[in-house]
Amino acid sequence: MAVAQEKEILCKEWLKKPKKLLIDGKWVDAKSGKSFKTYNPATEEVLAEIPEAGKEDVDAAVKAARIAFEDGRFHRKMTAAQRAHCLYKLADLIEKHADELAQLETLDNGKPISEARWVDVAATVETFRYYAGWATKLEGETINANNNFFTYTLREPIGVVGQIIPWNFPMLMMAWKWGPALACGNSVVLKPAEQTPLSALRIGELALEAGIPAGVVNIVTGFGENSAGEFLANHDDVDKIAFTGEDKTGQIIVKASAKTLKRVSLELGGKAPNIVFADADIDAAVKGAITGIFFNQGQVCCAGSRLFLEKQVHDEFMTKLLERVGRMRQGPGLDEKTQIGPQVSKEQQERVLSYVEIAKKEGAKLACGGSTPEDLKKGYFVKPTIFTGVKNDMRIAQEEVFGPVLAVIPFENMNDVAEQANKTRFGLSGAVWTRDVKKAHKFASHIKAGTIWVNCYNVFDPAVPFGGYKQSGYGRELGKHSIELYSNIKSVWVNIAD
Ligand code: NAI
Ligand code: MG
Repeated sequence: MAVAQEKEILCKEWLKKPKKLLIDGKWVDAKSGKSFKTYNPATEEVLAEIPEAGKEDVDAAVKAARIAFEDGRFHRKMTAAQRAHCLYKLADLIEKHADELAQLETLDNGKPISEARWVDVAATVETFRYYAGWATKLEGETINANNNFFTYTLREPIGVVGQIIPWNFPMLMMAWKWGPALACGNSVVLKPAEQTPLSALRIGELALEAGIPAGVVNIVTGFGENSAGEFLANHDDVDKIAFTGEDKTGQIIVKASAKTLKRVSLELGGKAPNIVFADADIDAAVKGAITGIFFNQGQVCCAGSRLFLEKQVHDEFMTKLLERVGRMRQGPGLDEKTQIGPQVSKEQQERVLSYVEIAKKEGAKLACGGSTPEDLKKGYFVKPTIFTGVKNDMRIAQEEVFGPVLAVIPFENMNDVAEQANKTRFGLSGAVWTRDVKKAHKFASHIKAGTIWVNCYNVFDPAVPFGGYKQSGYGRELGKHSIELYSNIKSVWVNIAD
């Protein structure tokens, strides 16, 4: 197996360095001295010991962010072009260390190295560049409301922003959150996921090297409940929380925001319908179904986890799908040939396997997978799994599994699938495969979700907004919409009457 040898691990020396919290531009220990371990999910080995931030550490980080914001070191004392330059520099540094960062992400999360390189790192670089461009393009407006007044608006940063991110795309979620927040001139306290804190710490180092001033970006590693995440979400001096993760956690964060009426933006789960009509390019749709559910081991909020197949093509589609899935190479992410790696943690592996049992009990038919691979003794692997004969009201079709488990639901006609597709509490994304332009646009408009892919799946660009309808959350990340999440509008009236 072509797994990178020890000596080829570019972050080997960095991994050995003691890990610290980033507060006020300095790397510091957690005040309690407590720590936790982060694991390589392909080998179950400990990668590093990570400081566990407690309440005092979160307080210190918020205080540093507040001071940095109030003295205006990143938004008033710097020009927008200087701020942009910091973000461009950060993107350049990430690009310069691309191979090292890709390995780090694969080691911590488990994802195939090819994806870490061409998706995670590349998209992180592009996201920082995209928002660097925005820093110099933030504008207010003049409004001709009343000739006795000169009236204009200012677009101002919000202040101290808490950002709580998940483990499925650690580095990229950091870029989605830091990019727009920093372009607008906010100060940030980031809480990475406890399963995958490493890339955030490395990018924190690069952020300082890029010239982002002390206190503007702070990183507190730790847990969620009754830990750093909760302390940040409850902090009275945080002006906004941006969160990506489980819907239940989203509810807790909204409740915590009520006391000081913090701004909140949420990107939560999904149960996307991926609809294939009989008139589609079936081979393309088969590939799309695979990307839709198996990319990143199914740990994707917009995963196409409900595959709706029109009855006439059901059997042909399934034959082709099973043939291709049977050829997928599962193994450690560092192996260049790996197409599907391990789940991020033992907890997630167990969660996914528990849904296999639930689906079986509900009467769905296991077409492939459904267990751990026989040849991989170590690591949190789950074989690519497909259930056929699923009914849309089964738990396997309604609850977010967040693993490589596809629920295939046959449908009769347009009306039938139109109704079922929207029968979910989620609304993050959906896809439709058809050669009929009318049908495509009809469905794009009909499906209640924030992103619709027509004859494609999982396509992203920093310029295109992403976010949820219904219980998939609120607020749109990426594009100019994310600027709205991180800025305030102020109206100024100047009396010019004679
Ligand atoms: P989670 O929502 O608990 O964790 C996400 C982040 O929130 C982490 O940084 C965590 O430390 C933090 N957090 C947890 N509880 C918190 C609290 N009470 N206050 C403040 N912060 C808190 O998600 P988890 O437990 O890792 O995964 C469970 C399920 O959530 C997954 O199986 C999946 O279905 C869903 N999920 C969805 C994601 C998405 O991209 N929409 C990402 C990760 C998980
Ligand atoms: Mg949780």
